[in-house]
Amino acid sequence: MNYFIPPDIIKNILDQTNIVQLIEMYIKLQKIGKNYYSICPFHNEKTPSFSINENKQYFHCFGCNAHGNIIDFLMKYNQSSFLDSIQTISNVFNIHIPYKFFNEKIQQQYCKKKKLYKIIEIASKLYYFNLQNKNSHIAQKYLKKRKINNAMIKYFQIGFAQINTLLSNPIIKKNKKYIYSLIKLGILYNNTNNTQYERFKNRIIFPIQNKYGKIIALGGRTINANNPKYINSSNTYIFNKSNILYGIYQIYQKKNKIKYILVVEGYFDVISLVQYNIKDTVSSLGTITTKNQIKVLFQKTDNIIYCYDGDVAGIKAAWRTLKIALSYLINYRSIKFIFLPQGEDPDSIIHKEGTKKFKKRIKNSVNIFDFFLMNIINQKNKIDSIYKKIQLIKKAIPLINKIPDKFIRMHLKKKLGIQIGIIDHYELNKLFQEKKYYHYNILDIKPTNMRILISLILQKPNLHQIIPCSIYEFKKMHIPGLSLFMEIFSLCKQYNHINTGQILEFYRTKKKKLNIINKLASWNNMIDTKKKKIVFIHLIKKIYQIALEKKYNTLIHKDRYYGLNITEKKILWKINQQLSKKSHI
Ligand code: UTP
Ligand code: MN
Repeated sequence: MNYFIPPDIIKNILDQTNIVQLIEMYIKLQKIGKNYYSICPFHNEKTPSFSINENKQYFHCFGCNAHGNIIDFLMKYNQSSFLDSIQTISNVFNIHIPYKFFNEKIQQQYCKKKKLYKIIEIASKLYYFNLQNKNSHIAQKYLKKRKINNAMIKYFQIGFAQINTLLSNPIIKKNKKYIYSLIKLGILYNNTNNTQYERFKNRIIFPIQNKYGKIIALGGRTINANNPKYINSSNTYIFNKSNILYGIYQIYQKKNKIKYILVVEGYFDVISLVQYNIKDTVSSLGTITTKNQIKVLFQKTDNIIYCYDGDVAGIKAAWRTLKIALSYLINYRSIKFIFLPQGEDPDSIIHKEGTKKFKKRIKNSVNIFDFFLMNIINQKNKIDSIYKKIQLIKKAIPLINKIPDKFIRMHLKKKLGIQIGIIDHYELNKLFQEKKYYHYNILDIKPTNMRILISLILQKPNLHQIIPCSIYEFKKMHIPGLSLFMEIFSLCKQYNHINTGQILEFYRTKKKKLNIINKLASWNNMIDTKKKKIVFIHLIKKIYQIALEKKYNTLIHKDRYYGLNITEKKILWKINQQLSKKSHI
């Protein structure tokens, strides 16, 4: 992606931020010595290996090797784009982003997004207030019939749309741009005579919020028998139906990890469960589970519980979820299923049973692996022919191989092995084509002088002050790593007090170099903190020495074959002196 934002601008923005303050908003941190620590949000673990260094403005996890600056954290944590992360930073730290310096495309994109956010919020407010109106009596009656109380109406900002709730509003009526945006959002539709009508008329309105509380879409349920039962505003820049979870904002307001999150199908399911104090509930809005949803949920909890109908459709949906979810089940994470009695959904059953009984259902939910076995080894269908055994294996192998945990894979394989009559471990492994699994690679860098040098300047950019400018003479010399070192050195000179996180930013689009820099920025070069300066000076001297020797050899070589002029002879003599002096030190 080409996001051209002048590096100076990004550097200025980063100057006004603090990575510790930002990360603290998402996860609990503990200060030990100079660094802050926490359980890593990017992999599952029991003891904290996620560390943040405030001076460097850099985070690093020793467990899974996640690392980077404040922008990387946001991109990774929120799975958001570079630009969205910049936007978040601007919101959090109240920094004005000078979009006029960005390229035109980005500016346009941001203006459009901002406009859509604003207008959808206005629409949602108008619908919310409209529900309180006397003439919204039928909608109030409908919600009463559905047993939704006022607290929930307020909590979820539920509204009601009439024939012209928006169109009769004086501000909207006058403003062509608003009308245009509302059409774009799929909230107003065009009539043939260039007038508009409200698409959500006679519907209860559910504003759908993203993780940050921004309204990104509206959902609407008919209060009469109109079809379709539910509609959504259109997919736009700000809304992608397959990625959204209704109720996620309420959950993301909690700082700590949540014991479990319940995933249900509909709006009313979420609202009724919350009303009955089962608060950590979201809805996938009737869509199939997506990878993105699973990732977002596992950031906030280690246990996801899906709630489905107990009928064939429900089991099918659970199986589809299983197929997508298996590869995310690392370490302590779990996925479970609740299957409700036929014809019931969480909304209907919670009103009948109440909280206590529903909690029992949560407690008795079926673990995904048990569900897997139950489904794959269909009891009614005895595996008595070779054909059936082959079918079973064909279905099971690709799924089992998705599971990251070796022990779970082993366990499931054994169970299936019994079914098909192969219990030999070696045979089983061969059959299941056990692959080597990716293990987090611990940084194993061979400590060369240049690597140590680069890691030192990256981790302590102030060291650049020690280096004399005469080092620029060697800039073009073929010493491995020198050009990268010189680049970083120049950055440090250009921007006094630059920190590690900011240096990285200059390399965001240069993937190859960024890779090396990232490794060296978080590499433990094993040098005692107090001795870093001395080692740095020593290594710089070494570079001088190597460079001088190189120059010396080139001149000697030239002398031998072509002869030297007087200036060159002088240089050679000078180098000779310098080198002999050095060897006395
Ligand atoms: P359901 O059909 O299970 O409806 O759809 P429900 O949630 O029980 O609705 P009520 O209780 O009759 O009001 C589950 C979810 O699927 C989406 C909605 O998000 C709904 O909440 N859906 C359903 C649609 O988007 N469009 C539809 O026509 C139906
Ligand atoms: Mn329902």
